[in-house]
Amino acid sequence: MDKLVIEGGKRLTGTIKISGSKNGALAIIPAMILAPGIYHLSNTPNLRDIWTMSQLMNSLGAFCELNENELFVDTRSINNYEAPYELVKKMRASFYVLGPLLARFGEAKVSLPGGCAWGPRPVDLHLKAMERLGADIQIEHGFVFAKADKLKGTKFNFDISSVGATGNMLMAAVLAKGNTLLTNASIEPEITALARFLVKMGAKIDGIGTTVLEVEGVDSLTPVDETSVPDRIEAGTFLIAAAMTKGEIEILDVNPYHLSSVLTKLEESGCEIDVTGNKIWLKMDDDPKPVDYITGVYPALPTDLQAQWVAYMLAAKGTSKITDLIYPDRFKHIPELQRLGADIQLIDNSAVVQGGKKLTGASLMSSDLRGSAALVLAGLISEGKTDVLRIYHLDRGYEQIENKFSCLGASIKRIKTELV
Ligand code: UD1
Repeated sequence: MDKLVIEGGKRLTGTIKISGSKNGALAIIPAMILAPGIYHLSNTPNLRDIWTMSQLMNSLGAFCELNENELFVDTRSINNYEAPYELVKKMRASFYVLGPLLARFGEAKVSLPGGCAWGPRPVDLHLKAMERLGADIQIEHGFVFAKADKLKGTKFNFDISSVGATGNMLMAAVLAKGNTLLTNASIEPEITALARFLVKMGAKIDGIGTTVLEVEGVDSLTPVDETSVPDRIEAGTFLIAAAMTKGEIEILDVNPYHLSSVLTKLEESGCEIDVTGNKIWLKMDDDPKPVDYITGVYPALPTDLQAQWVAYMLAAKGTSKITDLIYPDRFKHIPELQRLGADIQLIDNSAVVQGGKKLTGASLMSSDLRGSAALVLAGLISEGKTDVLRIYHLDRGYEQIENKFSCLGASIKRIKTELV
């Protein structure tokens, strides 16, 4: 099992390219189940979650092959409709196959994902949405058994805005008979990208980019090639890292619009930012100012950058409050950051950070993907050596993270270790 070893105190400077979006690709790959054929997905990030999704697709009978950042998918020979526990427990996004399998084959057996590292993450909305489309849903032995002769268009309001449930429902509704009206749908850029991909395949969807989606079911779809949107969470992570080390970086191949709320917050904390086309330049000369952060559904601040913002605020002299309204329990990084000397108090779903305290390197344990990124960022501003263990979490969602940080001047190495 690999670990990262970071020697803190280096200022980040330079230019890096941002990879394609992990969450975007994870929504688009299962959509390929909807029409038998051959697909190419360019700008696919070469990372663990994509390998897991490819493995899942292959277990259904498809053929997926990732060459550098080009994913080849052949869905002509899908003949199995089961997503096994071994894969779903590794990655919840596996649940995305439910909608497309049901829509194309009229049946699906998908393992329930269970909880995740930081708490419960229900799938009730996904199941209600499928039932509203006319599917029969049974839960037995930890699996969802879904069946429908032909899905039928319906009206569905998402009581909670959900990225995954909106994606699943869209993939099912595009092949349903008749019209479907979705309200309070997710407008996260990765879901908008999925909707655009479905339209490219021949689906009829109105209202893309808004919370009201109108779908007119079609009889069949056609395979098409696609390019993944840039990863806004990876981009945000590097911008925060640069700001906390008082650095100056330029990130390329990014969609600045997708990061609007984050860029505003970074400016509030004292960063100079310049946006041109698909590039963002950031410079930070002083200590950051303490700035509160409240997560919400897009275009509000992403929960996937909450942990990194907590790490950022360790560098700001004064008090800041970081509140997670999406995942109230998503704070497994706090006790690890405290091992560096961080002064953080957890009050309900908020982390109250007294920043500006001296941090000294220590061994830290990763518990989840974004929490691990926060540990790396904190290591960058800690005195001496920080070891971040169990980085398979990090490898799920960051492509070549140590190479990108090294490129920016960080002292960071990957070490193969038997330690867990
Ligand atoms: C996706 C992202 C994840 C991100 C999250 C929120 C992917 C692969 N993952 O996860 O990185 O952190 O969006 O932006 O894209 N909920 C229910 N019932 C459900 C579904 C969700 O109550 O059936 C709740 C969740 O507990 C949470 C909220 O809805 O409080 C939003 O979750 P959701 O948007 O569904 O997250 P995911 O799609 O799982």
